[in-house]
Amino acid sequence: MPPVVSIINYKGGVGKTTLTANIGAELARRGRRVLLVDLDPQASLTFSFYRATEWERQLADERTILQWYGSVLSGAPAALHKYVVTPPIVNEAVNRYGSGRLDLLASHLGLIDVDLDFAAHLGGSRFQHGSPRYLSLHRALAQALADPAFEEYDTVLLDCAPGHRLPAPEAVGTGR
Ligand SMILES: Nc1ncnc2c1ncn2[C@@H]1O[C@H](COP(=O)(O)OP(=O)(O)OP(=O)(O)O)[C@@H](O)[C@H]1O
Ligand SMILES: [Mg+2]
Repeated sequence: MPPVVSIINYKGGVGKTTLTANIGAELARRGRRVLLVDLDPQASLTFSFYRATEWERQLADERTILQWYGSVLSGAPAALHKYVVTPPIVNEAVNRYGSGRLDLLASHLGLIDVDLDFAAHLGGSRFQHGSPRYLSLHRALAQALADPAFEEYDTVLLDCAPGHRLPAPEAVGTGR
């Protein structure tokens, strides 16, 4: 599994997405194969690389991480790499310098409900941490990135939503 770096901060508007996009593009320019994962329903990272009309036509219905989370919640997780896209404009620029590549798992506004869906699936917001399925559901992304299909990447960068909640350590202990 390639190194995975989360760009995360509870407060919003501090430059997470700008850093993710620019670190990713610069690493690709230097010849690295980089995967960016947009975990924010605002989808600012996605819209750094796709126009809204392109996103709507090419990605919205079938090629965002929302559809993958839907498959996880349905109990039959799809292969995550099927949702990876290669944004054309930035890669045309990157290819002028070498063989690097910048890939993306795009986001969708519908992701805003996934936290709630997870909680409901596990028995409600107050009891979910005690569910035996808590860790398997909340580690679904880590498990999916361990697929050999992702071995080709040198780095994975996760652009997180502001206020992203991390499970309390004692809750993680309960779920094991
Ligand atoms: N180094 C910087 N200097 C000045 N402005 C910046 C810098 N980095 C980001 N910005 C600007 O700050 C604003 C917020 O940046 P950005 O969207 O990257 O933050 P964010 O932490 O991802 O926000 P959110 O929490 O909403 O996801 C944007 O308008 C961006 O252009
Ligand atoms: Mg952001």
